[in-house]
Amino acid sequence: MNPPVHILGLCGSLRPGSYTRQAATIVLDAARAEGASTALASDVELNLPLCDGRPEQAAPGAVIALRERVRRADALLLATPEYCGTLSAVLKNAIEWIGPEILAGKIIGVVSVAASTSADGSMVALRELCLREGAWVIPARASVPMAERVFGLPDDEFSRLVLAHLHALGTALPEAVNRIDQNCTSRGSRS
Ligand SMILES: Cc1cc2nc3c(=O)[nH]c(=O)nc-3n(C[C@H](O)[C@H](O)[C@H](O)COP(=O)(O)O)c2cc1C
Repeated sequence: MNPPVHILGLCGSLRPGSYTRQAATIVLDAARAEGASTALASDVELNLPLCDGRPEQAAPGAVIALRERVRRADALLLATPEYCGTLSAVLKNAIEWIGPEILAGKIIGVVSVAASTSADGSMVALRELCLREGAWVIPARASVPMAERVFGLPDDEFSRLVLAHLHALGTALPEAVNRIDQNCTSRGSRS
């Protein structure tokens, strides 16, 4: 039997009580319900020094540890708060440190969270960035506008709609890994 699909979540907010972290947790819970194993990198792991182009041998230990966790994951869940209309510096910095050698071909699901009525700026920017790094961004995605309302009034009709997208992304992410694995296996068996 194959080991479960492993999904690592990276949250681009270090704020205590972060809505982005709550959103990522909902997605990962839904992925676990589908049989995946999941982990969410801690705030400490993502509180990295700025990526400044220093030589590879000088990469901090925290970066090397994070790269190893990302390398081992079958898929990533990247969750960002919307800051100034785009993804947060915390997540961008982590992506810069991880680098295209590890991100190329990695299956990624994306979440964005904003205070205002749209989290689209950060969603579009994060998806574009992942694609530039060579990652395979899955079509399912979840943006959470009006985060305070969504998490403060989860039974509200609007909130339920938004939360359903987080659940759907959690279902889609392990499914994407399995589909790609199956395609590779069946193509391999034909050759
Ligand atoms: C520096 C900064 C910039 C922000 N820019 C935006 C923005 O452009 N659009 C928006 O809707 N919310 C903006 N916000 C609000 C955050 O997106 C919102 O508070 C979100 O919930 C933050 O995520 P968190 O709860 O995970 O920390 C900004 C917040 C900060 C701290």
